[in-house]
Amino acid sequence: MRPGLRSLLLTPPPSLALHAVILLSLGLRCQAVQAENVTVLEGGTAQISCRLQNYDGSIVVIQNPRRQTLFFNGTRALKDDRFQMVLFTQRLVRITLSNVSVWDEGGYFCQLYTDDTHHQVATLSVIVPPEVPTVEVKTEAVEGGEVELTCLSPRSKPPATLRWMRDRREISGVVSQQDYGKTVSVSNTIRIPVERRDNGAAVSCEASHPALGAQKRVRHYRLDVHFAPTVRIIPPPGILREGDSLSLTCSVSGNPLPRNVQWSRVNDTLPERAEISGSTLTVSRLSQAHNGTYLCQAHNNYGRAADHYTLLVYDPGAVVETHSAVPYAVIGGVLALLVFTVICGLIVTIWCSVRQKGSYLTHEASGLDEHGEVQEAFLNGSDSREGKKEYLL
Ligand SMILES: *[C@@H]1O[C@H](CO)[C@@H](O)[C@H](O)[C@H]1NC(C)=O
Ligand SMILES: *[C@@H]1O[C@H](CO)[C@@H](O)[C@H](O)[C@H]1NC(C)=O
Ligand SMILES: *[C@@H]1O[C@H](CO)[C@@H](O)[C@H](O)[C@H]1NC(C)=O
Ligand SMILES: *[C@@H]1O[C@H](CO)[C@@H](O)[C@H](O)[C@H]1NC(C)=O
Ligand SMILES: *[C@@H]1O[C@H](CO)[C@@H](O)[C@H](O)[C@H]1NC(C)=O
Repeated sequence: MRPGLRSLLLTPPPSLALHAVILLSLGLRCQAVQAENVTVLEGGTAQISCRLQNYDGSIVVIQNPRRQTLFFNGTRALKDDRFQMVLFTQRLVRITLSNVSVWDEGGYFCQLYTDDTHHQVATLSVIVPPEVPTVEVKTEAVEGGEVELTCLSPRSKPPATLRWMRDRREISGVVSQQDYGKTVSVSNTIRIPVERRDNGAAVSCEASHPALGAQKRVRHYRLDVHFAPTVRIIPPPGILREGDSLSLTCSVSGNPLPRNVQWSRVNDTLPERAEISGSTLTVSRLSQAHNGTYLCQAHNNYGRAADHYTLLVYDPGAVVETHSAVPYAVIGGVLALLVFTVICGLIVTIWCSVRQKGSYLTHEASGLDEHGEVQEAFLNGSDSREGKKEYLL
């Protein structure tokens, strides 16, 4: 990055080195004052601090990972104004680096021109959280087939983790990584079988990363499953008589949805008065000449479909049994069965009571009993008739 600026190298003057000015490790004198490692998000601002111990006014030099001098005792040496010296006290020298890039990573050196050759290094690490991943459709989804979806996170550091989810369940896929020097591109490819009912189903790809904590960058995707059309004519209720108007609506599905439907009449042309508006066919003032089979057809790239409707136009006065009469017939049948059952029950009850009364041989028999016994007497001849006479007295 910015090699032009970086080439403005400013190393400590050799004369100073010759003067046996030796680099001192600040950390060596006291372990508690080591330079702190810094981790910063790409584009953020890093704070690099060098702690001083027993500072005696000597020159402090700060160098970048390429050992280019950034500051020479408080004076900017490298023309990169992203670096600022924000603090220079007896105890602490602090610089900031704004708009950090991955190429700024590495060890930053804090050196003191004193008796010691040691230096202190603050390691700057840059992390790159993933953006919201993208979804690429590798193979188009057609019902009965498979769809191949690739979730891509082109840039992250360390590598992001990509997960495909559907209904809160993970779909396992093939994960691959490609190294682009400092950053990594991650992809996760899934293949899922698709049916018509999967059209519009939601899947999502979640990118997680240490820099995001528990948060995830999520790309939602709705399956776009292509399928051949289905066509259904919604018939008018009841029967149609001369003078009525006909309105047929053709209900179409399909993906892509057929842009229009075609109305036709089998072996004939559409009536002159037929009007087509969208997917609805209307014929006003019907006559029997309009009898016929009407077709609605639709197609898309995946197939075609048709439905038909048979139009019968009746006389205004005709008495017609229509399909709607069927439920009444059923209800009538059930009622008849009920009545029949009740009558049967009554007959059985009466028959039982007749038998009871017969065994008691009482004179208080009902009219029906007497009638029955009279008949019996008739059939059995005169002997019985006499007996009957007795009863009748
Ligand atoms: C700072 O980072 C460097 C390099 O990753 C590592 O060797 C060193 O131990 C770290 N220092 C501290 C104090 O964490
Ligand atoms: C280096 O800078 C510090 C702080 O400004 C100052 O006290 C010190 O005298 C300077 N040293 C030299 C050698 O100029
Ligand atoms: C930050 O750095 C990038 C390149 O690393 C550059 O494209 C961008 O313009 C910089 N942004 C600012 C605000 O300086
Ligand atoms: C259309 O005409 C053909 C041949 O004349 C015949 O077989 C078919 O039954 C006719 N269809 C209708 C719905 O009238
Ligand atoms: C039309 O259909 C009705 C009902 O089936 C029938 O009574 C009539 O004769 C038909 N008319 C023609 C012209 O086919």
